Amino acid sequence: MWPILITGTSRWIGHFLAQKYSKDYTVFWLSRTSSTIHTEKFHEFLWDINNTQFLEHIFQSIPEIDWLILNAGIWYFDMFEKISLEQYSHMIHTNLLSPLLLTKILFPKIKKGVIGIGSYAGKKSLKYGTWYAASKFGLRGFLLTLKNETPKKIHLINPKIVHTDFHAHAKIEIPPDIPKTDMHAIFDNIQNILQRKEHRFEIDI
Ligand SMILES: NC(=O)c1ccc[n+]([C@@H]2O[C@H](COP(=O)([O-])OP(=O)(O)OC[C@H]3O[C@@H](n4cnc5c(N)ncnc54)[C@H](OP(=O)(O)O)[C@@H]3O)[C@@H](O)[C@H]2O)c1
Repeated sequence: MWPILITGTSRWIGHFLAQKYSKDYTVFWLSRTSSTIHTEKFHEFLWDINNTQFLEHIFQSIPEIDWLILNAGIWYFDMFEKISLEQYSHMIHTNLLSPLLLTKILFPKIKKGVIGIGSYAGKKSLKYGTWYAASKFGLRGFLLTLKNETPKKIHLINPKIVHTDFHAHAKIEIPPDIPKTDMHAIFDNIQNILQRKEHRFEIDI
């Protein structure tokens, strides 16, 4: 069994997944900041996924991996005209371009497959989420198309609102009636993929 690489592991969803999977798998953790909790079977990379040197470094540093889990992401949520060009660029870079480049560079080393953490906002229109939606629709389109090109397993998990600090940048209050997803449901669905009990490309939770 080869290791798993999870991006965005310093907190919340990525951290939860990395901690859980580190019990059974060797897990490469990746974030800009260190996670406070460490387990036995882990190796942490402290890198900005958008740093071009990172791609070179990760390719040189890791052996083959079973799974790549694309979780790192950011969100600026506000009216289209209010968010700066820098914020939009940063969001597209982090949520779309970098995951695609990482998949490309690591693809020869990925033995089993790639799992993306998409979003409800990658399928439906969420008010004030224009560029976030663009990044998640883009990730979905990429993985859906890649799936048809490779025998490797390609999956996308689309949570709704998950209780994390992710919305700290949101200038808009998230309506309380938007459906929520429990982090355990993300873990359970990925676990089913790893154990080959789940074969659907896209899992809306
Ligand atoms: N929370 C929700 O309601 C929700 C719903 C649907 C989908 N999602 C998706 O789930 C994923 C995780 O969300 P979350 O709520 O756990 O977010 P979060 O609490 O903000 O955590 C994001 C993670 O990504 C890492 N990250 C961000 N920019 C990075 C960069 N440039 N380089 C390396 N790592 C970076 C962060 O670590 P550092 O800051 O330490 O680098 C952090 O560990 C995202 O892709 C998000 O789109 C979230």
